[in-house]
Amino acid sequence: MNTSTEKLTDYRLRVDQIPDTVEEILNEQERVELRRDIKQLLQERDAVLVAHYYVDAELQQLADETGGYVSDSLDMARFGHEADASTLVVCGVRFMGETAKILNPEKTVLMPTLEAECSLDLGCPPDAFSAFCDAHPDHIVVVYANTSAAVKARADWMVTSGSAVDVVKHLKAQGKKIIWAPDKYLGEYVEEQSGADMLIWQGSCVVHEEFKGRELLELKAQHPRAKVLVHPESPPSVIEIADVVGSTTGIIKAAQTLPDKEFIVATDKGIFHKMQQAAPGKVFIEAPTAGKGATCKSCAHCPWMAMNGLKSLASTLRLMNNEVQVDAAIIERAKLPIKRLLDFAEANKQKIYGAGDA
Ligand code: 13P
Ligand code: SF4
Repeated sequence: MNTSTEKLTDYRLRVDQIPDTVEEILNEQERVELRRDIKQLLQERDAVLVAHYYVDAELQQLADETGGYVSDSLDMARFGHEADASTLVVCGVRFMGETAKILNPEKTVLMPTLEAECSLDLGCPPDAFSAFCDAHPDHIVVVYANTSAAVKARADWMVTSGSAVDVVKHLKAQGKKIIWAPDKYLGEYVEEQSGADMLIWQGSCVVHEEFKGRELLELKAQHPRAKVLVHPESPPSVIEIADVVGSTTGIIKAAQTLPDKEFIVATDKGIFHKMQQAAPGKVFIEAPTAGKGATCKSCAHCPWMAMNGLKSLASTLRLMNNEVQVDAAIIERAKLPIKRLLDFAEANKQKIYGAGDA
């Protein structure tokens, strides 16, 4: 365990740095036309859609229907790397677009908007992080996928929620001390699961940190047969109650493979679309973000993921704009920690979907 007494800066965002969640309001006719245009444009532009589980269900459906892909952040990167199309259109947040570009520098990578950020990425400024790493040269630097390309370029390893525990266990077995960034809750969870010596950056996800332990216990009491599925970016009081702690893919797999019929789910509600597809007939209940201590602005839905819409996607494909640009030197350096993870994941295929054994 980390024995350092160093006081780390809290990188939580202020409320005014979190955008309001704005969903597109379109009538059925507009939706039909936009879906048709997007399908046609994807063909004309030799483009493929790569979408995260948290984006609008209609975008996930379009990706599925057009030979694209819907998955977690690691698998999105992997698919982008293997796809034949010359253009990747990433429906998600900026770090996902940057990861796709780093792995596919020869491809054009577009996003429906370049303004889709992530509080973890915003809460880990490259200069401050680099200075932190310089101050601890005896530590190996492990960063979560939810970071900028520049932060990845300062890292030794990149991990995702589905691979973090296994990678850190692997590094601990080699006697390494670890700098972890940016998510403090995931960091604490990984530290607890692995027993590694970790210095943890104090970032957080504005969506997951709003899940409430006490209210979750109350909800569980109302649904005694429900299993609780939790993403490890959630606070410890929520993780403690979980039957399964898992990445987005881990959560979907748990819903599919467990014999239970009812689940309380603590992650972005965009995931319900795939969960319902994967486990039809089962019941999924949103974990509480409100209650007496309600503070959330975008309760259980990422405001930046919500910036991806049919209109912005069609416009990007029409104009071929919103191209993700990453400096060539950063690409070269940032490739190393990502490739390390992809190689590790390939070698440990069956193991990396759940975040842990809880
Ligand atoms: P996954 O890596 O599990 O897809 O999570 C990404 C994310 O942004 C969670 O908030
Ligand atoms: Fe980032 Fe949280 Fe949004 Fe995921 S849900 S992209 S961690 S802000």
